[in-house]
Amino acid sequence: MSVKYLGFSASIMLLASSAIADGDAASGEKVFNQCQSCHIVANEAGEVLAGRNGRQGPNLYGIVGRIAGSYPGFRYGDGLLAMADAGMAWDAEMLVSYLADPTSFVREATGNKRAKAKMSFRLRNAQDAADVIAFITSLSPAAGN
Ligand code: HEC
Repeated sequence: MSVKYLGFSASIMLLASSAIADGDAASGEKVFNQCQSCHIVANEAGEVLAGRNGRQGPNLYGIVGRIAGSYPGFRYGDGLLAMADAGMAWDAEMLVSYLADPTSFVREATGNKRAKAKMSFRLRNAQDAADVIAFITSLSPAAGN
């Protein structure tokens, strides 16, 4: 009985951790409602794939694998600009911690304790963050695998 119980909870834990690693694009679409006052996802042709007219933040198309702070024409804060200079590309894990606390993230990533982040919004729930990243990825080039 107790062995069975242990096996059960172990597989639940496995499920939970792989869900966080992967993210769920369908749930992420709802999470994106919290981003769209400031961000759109629009492809190279200018077609808006998510959001409406949020322009306070940069277009998030293809954000996974993109160099941080590199969207053309956007006026980034010094933290993301320093990451761009260093050629640091976003991966999903970095994005989850950035979303939880943009200022702490850019300070740690750049080693500059005074680096500033212009994104005032925080998404502390790591699952929501993984989901919204999966959603944005699903709209981006070479997505869906
Ligand atoms: C209140 C406006 C606002 C909201 C809401 C917001 N952001 Fe941002 N976001 C910004 C701004 C402004 C920047 C540029 C930050 C800088 O230059 O330091 C940014 C930057 C980013 C970046 C870095 C982009 C790059 O080119 O390197 C990512 C990724 C990002 N936001 C994702 C999100 C996601 C996902 C959400 C929703 C969960 C969200 N943001 C919600 C304003 C916002």
